[in-house]
Amino acid sequence: MKSNRPDPDTSGLDSDRLPAHVAIIMDGNGRWAKRRSLDRLEGHRRGVETIETIIRFCRNIGLAHLTLFAFSTENWSRPAYEVAGIMTLLKEFLRTRQEELRENGIRFNAVGNLGMLSEDVRQVLDEAGSLTADCRKMVLTIALSYGGRDEIIRAVKRIAADAVAGRIDIDGIDEQQVAAYLDTHDLPDPDVLIRTSGEMRISNFLLWQLAYTEIFVTNTFWPDFGPDELVRILKEYQTRERRFGKV
Ligand code: FPP
Repeated sequence: MKSNRPDPDTSGLDSDRLPAHVAIIMDGNGRWAKRRSLDRLEGHRRGVETIETIIRFCRNIGLAHLTLFAFSTENWSRPAYEVAGIMTLLKEFLRTRQEELRENGIRFNAVGNLGMLSEDVRQVLDEAGSLTADCRKMVLTIALSYGGRDEIIRAVKRIAADAVAGRIDIDGIDEQQVAAYLDTHDLPDPDVLIRTSGEMRISNFLLWQLAYTEIFVTNTFWPDFGPDELVRILKEYQTRERRFGKV
């Protein structure tokens, strides 16, 4: 994907040891706007620009999976105008960028309680998913109307229904089988979780999948986040020793 920005300095980043999956809690759009006495939606608008820059950068360095937390189950209780504004930005982004995603080999994927979204939003998600279904360079997953607990509850209900119907054996339920019922069934667990704007919380994001993920929190508000800071985080990731609970 093309960009007008100068290329970030990736020297010192080992391209053979990139994480397979980076997940991001994009936080701070509202505070970014408030600091400038702007409407919160202006923060989200600038947030979409950061989304575009980060997708482009991740695709160009060869990252396989990028997952962005765009809208939580809790975000439904925000003022109606803000919810509507976020949905409009999402629709605009997909309508104007889906061709570019396809040309760049980026498969679009959405996770979350998508049934809660309006018909027009679901249509746009379906269209972008179908258009990019054969893309193999990178998977871009957007978590929308997503909550980790909600995802687990939906999975448990389907597991219970399959057990009652005799389609699965209760004694055979293991981690792999539970993971297969989650929205993320076709994604590896994230290696890296980044949260912008400084809060030290997971905020109901990917509760099952983050079990052994390396966490990085930056004070930068999402609209100010960029490839340089991402490179710094990826380099730090490459210095960490991952033990997965072992010695
Ligand atoms: C976090 O900032 C941001 C959000 C909850 C919304 C992010 C969604 C978009 C930018 C639109 C989605 C578009 C695409 C292309 C996926 P915040 O409002 O929680 O900030 P605050 O904590 O400072 O108030």
